[in-house]
Amino acid sequence: EKGGHSSFMEKEILEQPTAIASTLLGRTDAEGALVLDELRISEEQLRAVTKIVIVACGTAFYSGMTAKYAIEHWTRIPCEVELAHEFRYRDPVVDQHTLVVSISQSGETMDTLMAVKHARELGALTISICNTHGATIPRESDAVLYTHAGPEIAVASTKAFTAQITACYVLGLYLAQLRGGSYAEEAQQVMRELHEIPSKVETLLAGMDRVREIARFMADTRSVLFLGRHVGYPIALEGALKLKEIAYIHAEGFAAGELKHGPIALIEPGQPVFIVVPGPDTPHGLHGKVVSNIQEIRARGARTLVIAEEGDEDVVPFADEVIRVPQAPPLLEPLLTIVPLQVFAAELASAKGLDVDQPRNLAKSVTVE
Ligand code: F6R
Repeated sequence: EKGGHSSFMEKEILEQPTAIASTLLGRTDAEGALVLDELRISEEQLRAVTKIVIVACGTAFYSGMTAKYAIEHWTRIPCEVELAHEFRYRDPVVDQHTLVVSISQSGETMDTLMAVKHARELGALTISICNTHGATIPRESDAVLYTHAGPEIAVASTKAFTAQITACYVLGLYLAQLRGGSYAEEAQQVMRELHEIPSKVETLLAGMDRVREIARFMADTRSVLFLGRHVGYPIALEGALKLKEIAYIHAEGFAAGELKHGPIALIEPGQPVFIVVPGPDTPHGLHGKVVSNIQEIRARGARTLVIAEEGDEDVVPFADEVIRVPQAPPLLEPLLTIVPLQVFAAELASAKGLDVDQPRNLAKSVTVE
């Protein structure tokens, strides 16, 4: 069933263009307006939402972290993201105007399920973003927005992740449209840009030879660091998680702005560091700031593996390797920048002779606390 691929993970990485496209399918009308009639929460209730809390675990949590940047930007509704197992045992400020969005591929993760139940007890509106039809979490929620990534078999999540970001974006754009704020008009434009992402992922996937080569050379590596900023920050965290999970390599992701607050002390000659560079059109000059970070760590001997947009020449002088991704609007970049990191982890794990699909100590769905 792996369709000639070496692992399900490889297959699922390659399925991402379809996973994203299917998740977008049918969610706009002929005029390009978003339609989410599957939601089953009244428009009136959604208009009254004053706060969004995203709860999830693992990779799903990182998709939520990514979505926060977009949802707050488009809706101007404060949005928090919290690990489900932390949310559950705090005393969170949640009421009937809070929208609690759970994200879960399996829809069975016990921690996430209990967080949803807790939120409902507190009177919140609950929406489940889920990849598995009829799973427990969507059943226990007021509404569900399915990701249409198709079954994910490999323990390490890949296509579900990009589909989750896509679904969260659709939800954010829908809320923006519903509330008629300044981003209501932009919503349709963003949807059009989202529709261009699958073919960009396709292009990106076709050019992964060098990433695979780098991964194979690095089979003996003991530690890899990942830096990112803005939406690239959760991507750095997710890239590190993939490597830990399947290649058993110590990996850590950092917000690039944190470097000088501690992590830069880890940099010694030869330390490999992936840097997810924001596109040159990212607001607030973040591109330049991250380029400076690359320069700083390179000066201390880091081996810099730079993920940058096509045409971004600023990174070249400080990069040991440049991995190119197609150009995209800043908030949509995560759907592209994660791909080389997934490929890297899968290739490195298989170069080490490990079982890519069934990493030690892990289960696909965590139905216990
Ligand atoms: C990472 C991974 C886990 C899951 C997490 C949540 O590759 O697979 O971190 O993302 O256990 O699982 P779901 O999404 O099923 O709730």
